Amino acid sequence: MRCRAAVLTAPHQDMTIEEIEIGDLDPGEVLVRIGAAGLCHTDLEVIEGQLAYPMPIVLGHEAAGTIERVGAGVDPQRVGDQVVLSWNPHCGQCFHCVRGNTILCEPYVALGPKAVPFSGKAKLHLDGRDLHTMFYMSAFAEYAVVTEACAVSVPPEIPFDRACLLGCGVLTGVGAVTRIAELRADETAMVIGCGAVGLSAVQGARLAGARQIVAVDLADDKLATARLLGATHVVNAHHQDPVVAVREITEGRGADCVVESAGNNDAFRASVEACRAGGAVVWLGKVGINDEVAFRWGSLMGEKRITRCSYGGAQTASDFPWLARSYLEGDLKLDEMISQHLRLEDINSGFDDLHNGRTIRSIVQFEH
Ligand SMILES: NC(=O)c1ccc[n+]([C@@H]2O[C@H](COP(=O)([O-])OP(=O)(O)OC[C@H]3O[C@@H](n4cnc5c(N)ncnc54)[C@H](O)[C@@H]3O)[C@@H](O)[C@H]2O)c1
Ligand SMILES: [Zn+2]
Ligand SMILES: [Zn+2]
Repeated sequence: MRCRAAVLTAPHQDMTIEEIEIGDLDPGEVLVRIGAAGLCHTDLEVIEGQLAYPMPIVLGHEAAGTIERVGAGVDPQRVGDQVVLSWNPHCGQCFHCVRGNTILCEPYVALGPKAVPFSGKAKLHLDGRDLHTMFYMSAFAEYAVVTEACAVSVPPEIPFDRACLLGCGVLTGVGAVTRIAELRADETAMVIGCGAVGLSAVQGARLAGARQIVAVDLADDKLATARLLGATHVVNAHHQDPVVAVREITEGRGADCVVESAGNNDAFRASVEACRAGGAVVWLGKVGINDEVAFRWGSLMGEKRITRCSYGGAQTASDFPWLARSYLEGDLKLDEMISQHLRLEDINSGFDDLHNGRTIRSIVQFEH
């Protein structure tokens, strides 16, 4: 079948909207009509060349939609299901999968840099040439093909533009606090970087019953949103040292849990300085894989649990329905994270806005 997609041909270029060809479904795959897709900082890193992927490629890895067709071996009853898409297909049988660490699944990790579907062979084509697939998904297109387990059914009452946020930013941030740091009620959490990922970490801390939640950013508007979502203290790191600020409210100890969700040197350094002895640090952001980040050795000591984490320890099959229900029940807030809706044609301006820090999440909304 043919559909429209945003194709990136080289870093630092605009994506172009093309009619692409999607190959037939292999067994175990589903075709999803994309309803909405969020613009995540990780997509921007590919556009800006910080995260190297083979090109041409269709980006997009935070999406929700409807199952339109199923491949052999998939229950036909799933057609029509409203789904949030996961970017962590996994084999279920390798060394890491059997130990429950699906984000390290051997074929998942091995195929990742090749930017192909989980079947290993290109599914998308443009004028007879193979297109690469980002994160086993390529959601900046009217349709995407994923493995059945990556299309997780959620209650149909949640609108696509809210549901898509669960697919990357929200689960990563909430999971980092609740699952990786294992924050407990009455503790103090600090979140450095309040984009969609960090704001979700703020919410994870609120859902876990934190007593104090310190949100740090360089932009006052992001901090205002952090307050709406549960931050009890806000720090603009341009004007105030976040490490001093958190010590002031914790009798000099530091935060029980610090989440880094800014993706730069200063934030990584501050995250370990701000954590109390015996506390937990979770790094979600990233810099170029060959870049070096320097720390003061003493800041790493004191029995801190320091974890670099992708996808917040996601267990998507249960997490997506849980988070969708939390939104519908009013506990998880998603409306506040949506800065604007875009047509696919306007996707480049959405990434300009993200680059310039003007938005939390821009959402591409598809009209079918
Ligand atoms: N680990 C994962 O699974 C995962 C998933 C999604 C995104 N990410 C990464 O997480 C990071 C955040 O993603 P996002 O989509 O929310 O990005 P974003 O650009 O929307 O948000 C980043 C925020 O950090 C703030 N910031 C920058 N430098 C800062 C500093 N020194 N101190 C305080 N705040 C600072 C910015 O003002 C911005 O509000 C990125 O590095 C992204 O690549 C990781
Ligand atoms: Zn993402
Ligand atoms: Zn595996």
